[in-house]
Amino acid sequence: MFPEGNVWSTFMFLLLLATGAPAEKICSVLSNHEVHMGSSFHIYCIFKKECNRLIYQDEVSLNYSSLNSTVVIMRIVNLTRTTTFTCKCRNEPEPCGTDIVPGYPPAVPQNLTCIQEGEFGKVNCTWKTGWETHVKTTSHLWVQGASPVRYGSVAVHDGARSALFPVSGTQSDFSVWVHANNSLGSANSTLLIFSLHEIVKPLSPKITKVECFSRQCQLYPDNTQNIQLVEIRYEEQQDSWNTVSFNNTPSTRNWTITSLNPYHTYTFEVRWKLGPTRGLWSEWTRIKNKTDEEAPVTMLDAWYIEEPSQTGSKSFQLFWRDLDKSEARGKIQQYIVTVIGKGTRNTTALLGNKINVSCFPCNVSISAMNSKGQSPSRLIQLKPIALLPYKVSHTRVNNHTVALTWPTPGSADAVTEFLIEWFPVGRKHSLQWTRVERHLNTAYITGLQPAECYEGAVVYLHSSGTKKAIFNRISTWQTAPQQSPVPSVVVKSESVEVKWSEIPPNKRGGCLDHYTIYLKDSANKIQNYSVPYNHREFTISGLMLGHKYTLWVSAWTTAGESPVEHEHLFKHTRETLDAKPLAQLIPVGSAVFLTCLCLLCLCQFSSVHRRISRCCHCLMPSIVPDPANSKWAKECTREKGEMKLQLHLSDSSMSEEEPNTVEVEEFPQEKLPEDEPVSTEETLHPVNPQDESTPYQHNITSSYLKSFSNESSSSDATQASRSTDITVDYISTHGVMSGGEDDDDDGDEEHEAFDFFPCPKSPFLEPLISFGGKLTLDSVKIDCSDFLDCA
Ligand SMILES: *[C@@H]1O[C@H](CO)[C@@H](O)[C@H](O)[C@H]1NC(C)=O
Ligand SMILES: *[C@@H]1O[C@H](CO)[C@@H](O)[C@H](O)[C@H]1NC(C)=O
Ligand SMILES: *[C@@H]1O[C@H](CO)[C@@H](O)[C@H](O)[C@H]1NC(C)=O
Ligand SMILES: *[C@@H]1O[C@H](CO)[C@@H](O)[C@H](O)[C@H]1NC(C)=O
Ligand SMILES: *[C@@H]1O[C@H](CO)[C@@H](O)[C@H](O)[C@H]1NC(C)=O
Ligand SMILES: *[C@@H]1O[C@H](CO)[C@@H](O)[C@H](O)[C@H]1NC(C)=O
Ligand SMILES: *[C@@H]1O[C@H](CO)[C@@H](O)[C@H](O)[C@H]1NC(C)=O
Ligand SMILES: *[C@@H]1O[C@H](CO)[C@@H](O)[C@H](O)[C@H]1NC(C)=O
Ligand SMILES: *[C@@H]1O[C@H](CO)[C@@H](O)[C@H](O)[C@H]1NC(C)=O
Repeated sequence: MFPEGNVWSTFMFLLLLATGAPAEKICSVLSNHEVHMGSSFHIYCIFKKECNRLIYQDEVSLNYSSLNSTVVIMRIVNLTRTTTFTCKCRNEPEPCGTDIVPGYPPAVPQNLTCIQEGEFGKVNCTWKTGWETHVKTTSHLWVQGASPVRYGSVAVHDGARSALFPVSGTQSDFSVWVHANNSLGSANSTLLIFSLHEIVKPLSPKITKVECFSRQCQLYPDNTQNIQLVEIRYEEQQDSWNTVSFNNTPSTRNWTITSLNPYHTYTFEVRWKLGPTRGLWSEWTRIKNKTDEEAPVTMLDAWYIEEPSQTGSKSFQLFWRDLDKSEARGKIQQYIVTVIGKGTRNTTALLGNKINVSCFPCNVSISAMNSKGQSPSRLIQLKPIALLPYKVSHTRVNNHTVALTWPTPGSADAVTEFLIEWFPVGRKHSLQWTRVERHLNTAYITGLQPAECYEGAVVYLHSSGTKKAIFNRISTWQTAPQQSPVPSVVVKSESVEVKWSEIPPNKRGGCLDHYTIYLKDSANKIQNYSVPYNHREFTISGLMLGHKYTLWVSAWTTAGESPVEHEHLFKHTRETLDAKPLAQLIPVGSAVFLTCLCLLCLCQFSSVHRRISRCCHCLMPSIVPDPANSKWAKECTREKGEMKLQLHLSDSSMSEEEPNTVEVEEFPQEKLPEDEPVSTEETLHPVNPQDESTPYQHNITSSYLKSFSNESSSSDATQASRSTDITVDYISTHGVMSGGEDDDDDGDEEHEAFDFFPCPKSPFLEPLISFGGKLTLDSVKIDCSDFLDCA
């Protein structure tokens, strides 16, 4: 391919033989360092002595042939990359070697151009060097003067070089070429002939100042000497240039760019030229500035919704949109809202774009204000909007868009405009609206969130009035609700009343469709009840007494059902003294009710009321010493069976009267039936007449006091209970009997559950009812006449 490589190396070999190899090394390598790419050639290794010779190419052992005992020849074929050749004697550590670089001769330099930099500057010539040679290559610019002058090149950027040469005052015509050279060859560019007149390029303009008003800017240059043409371009957005040209005269001080928009940042670029036919355009000079503000020209787009309000005056929430940049013509500093009521005017300035207004009837005017002034006012008459019975239909377009269609009004009263308002269910403050021309009856509402439920209305704006057709339950894409409602249960005698919480809007997955209540009985049989989405309570009847139930509520969207969670356990228990059928409970309940009613009546008579309240008052353990704990009281309790205790009341206010006493009768407590442990949920129910066994446990030994009003000297308002075991140390007049020190733990529960004093706090005398289990008719003896005597 490159046969001269072989010739060259042979020549070098002979040359080296004549001069002698370096003394230090055992050998020397004879070859070109730079060869043509892909060429084949010989390398010689000359040893200074005979030895066991080893030859390596890039550390790989290489086949070779011996010329004689000291000279080795290697034939290298198709060398395409830089390679290291090494020769050594087997027992000598010091090798000799060389790197051989394959490369290319230079390409012919292309695209030689020259520019004079400034009117009196040097000439800068640039050219392209073509391919990569891989070996050291030099380029020179030759300039033809009287005799050619050579100028060295500098690299400009990848594959390009340039060289500068000065011009003397007189010479204006030149011819130049580029010579490129390396060890593998050389190349000349074509000749370039020019005169300075053609290639002179003025230095780029210097702009000292840009002065802007709202619609125009003036650019002030530094020095326009000899400049005849000026070009200015400006852009408001990226890459949308407008270009203006100017003829420059020596008297020109500035250039004015007109028809700009207020409150915009403009980028200006300026370049110039020495004359229409002389030289080249300068580079662009870039500068930015902002035009001034003007008062906004456009009315705000505003709309309102009525807030539900209890008071007489109506409450409205008024919203408006920001003006867009070209409408605002400046930075909006505040909004001016004027509420014009009957003979009143209230002006408020605010930053946000909503306000609550409470007035009716009234008009509101809203305008936006920037540093230069105020926009025209939008006038809105705030009033409740009557509903139209029209049906608005909708079609899903995509996950964020819905197409609405509404009927065109039939009446002669022409609609001036339609307005569509919508907001996520329950979040009116996220109101959005759009206006639609009157000849249309369909519109897209966009920006909807998937898995969200929307409602809104099409507002028919007539010149004579405003009406609207509402729509609701619009969603683009739904999921099953991610949460279930939390139920709460009130157990009634034969039914349960279920109420449940609302699911937070962001967990609903769209528009709720309905709820399902699941009721699982102890036999794991599940019954379900479907409830419309707009209800949140339900009564389930026909429950079986004595059964345990699990209840949960799920919510549905059309996409599915919420997970099973918030299961609620409750028990529908019944009278523990099972022998008595329910029918018997009714007279008992009635009797208790009547008793309570009687007591309540009596308490309305002030003197009776006073006495009873005294009696209640004196028995409050926190206020007075506890007579039941007095020494004699304790003694009395040691006697089994019935006993009478005289509790002397120590209320000083009663000193003039005979001492008030409470007669207390004690019975052994009846052994209570054993019951299963009770879940916390069951104990949550405060009113559960049949749940009598709840607060008790089998091993509690406590005693109860039967109390009498001493004044009435009879056994009215007696409450009796029995105790299995009377080992009482402490008799609490508060109603709780602690059976011993070891029962302290149970004491707390009992405190809440026992309170037998006949002072009615509620008309139904809760404590009596809660004692239903032990209360029998024969232990309640009421003699109302005694009470009346006292009165
Ligand atoms: C070296 O030469 C031997 C014998 O001529 C040959 O068998 C071997 O393949 C050659 N090795 C190389 C790397 O050319
Ligand atoms: C080997 O050959 C070279 C060149 O032909 C010669 O200069 C040299 O003296 C020879 N060496 C021996 C030991 O013959
Ligand atoms: C030289 O080697 C290159 C790659 O190493 C190969 O593509 C090319 O064909 C070879 N040329 C010759 C003439 O063997
Ligand atoms: C040289 O200039 C010509 C014409 O101006 C252009 O087509 C070509 O791409 C340029 N060459 C290089 C290497 O830039
Ligand atoms: C000549 O002009 C080129 C391109 O404008 C520039 O990159 C280069 O630096 C200039 N050459 C010299 C020597 O200034
Ligand atoms: C070309 O380059 C070689 C070495 O790279 C050098 O000896 C020679 O003088 C150069 N020739 C020219 C005309 O520059
Ligand atoms: C390149 O130009 C120089 C000087 O003008 C000349 O000596 C040389 O022969 C030319 N070389 C080629 C390859 O044209
Ligand atoms: C004016 O309106 C503002 C805000 O709506 C309210 O706080 C203020 O009490 C009103 N003033 C009068 C005089 O109505
Ligand atoms: C306006 O009223 C709504 C609902 O009554 C309330 O949520 C909102 O915070 C109020 N906004 C202002 C700015 O007072």
